[in-house]
Amino acid sequence: MKGDNYMYIKFDAKSINESVARMTVAAFMMHMNPTLDEIQDVKTAVSEAVTNAIIHGYPETDLVNSKEGECSEKNEIEMICAQEDETLKITIIDKGVGIENVEEARKPFFTSKPDEERSGMGFAFMETFMDVLDVESRVGKGTKVTMIKYIERKDEQ
Ligand SMILES: Nc1ncnc2c1ncn2[C@@H]1O[C@H](COP(=O)(O)OP(=O)(O)OP(=O)(O)O)[C@@H](O)[C@H]1O
Ligand SMILES: [Mg+2]
Repeated sequence: MKGDNYMYIKFDAKSINESVARMTVAAFMMHMNPTLDEIQDVKTAVSEAVTNAIIHGYPETDLVNSKEGECSEKNEIEMICAQEDETLKITIIDKGVGIENVEEARKPFFTSKPDEERSGMGFAFMETFMDVLDVESRVGKGTKVTMIKYIERKDEQ
């Protein structure tokens, strides 16, 4: 798929928006003629990154249990989807608490919330399902997760 395309969305850090992000990215990549597996991989990776931003980035508004309207204006998540030819790049940004040790956080089974039935596999899934995963974070400033997937062109095979 030649050409380029871009989309930017910003949404409240509420758990209901995890599915919004997942469906939006699926719609964005559709014209790249992906396989069902590729769509599923990207949706899963986005879901993990957005869930992390909601739950870990903004812990005091862990929104599974919070009431409507409790979310302050600042608790927002940005998602940028950019396509350039066969490359799909997705960036998910929160301005939350940040990660102290990114290397440790990325390790499989590492979780800072073992008591909340978290398995510590989010970053491991992002790494497996995408071709590139980059995590930048600053304590007190927030976290930026960049993921790339190469969607091979099927229309000329
Ligand atoms: N956006 C973020 N802001 C702050 N901390 C984060 C963020 N994303 C991840 N982390 C930290 O990195 C750790 C590892 O994340 P990962 O997604 O791999 O596991 P998890 O979220 O704890 O468990 P699971 O994803 O399996 O439910 C988290 O426990 C958390 O401490
Ligand atoms: Mg996670």
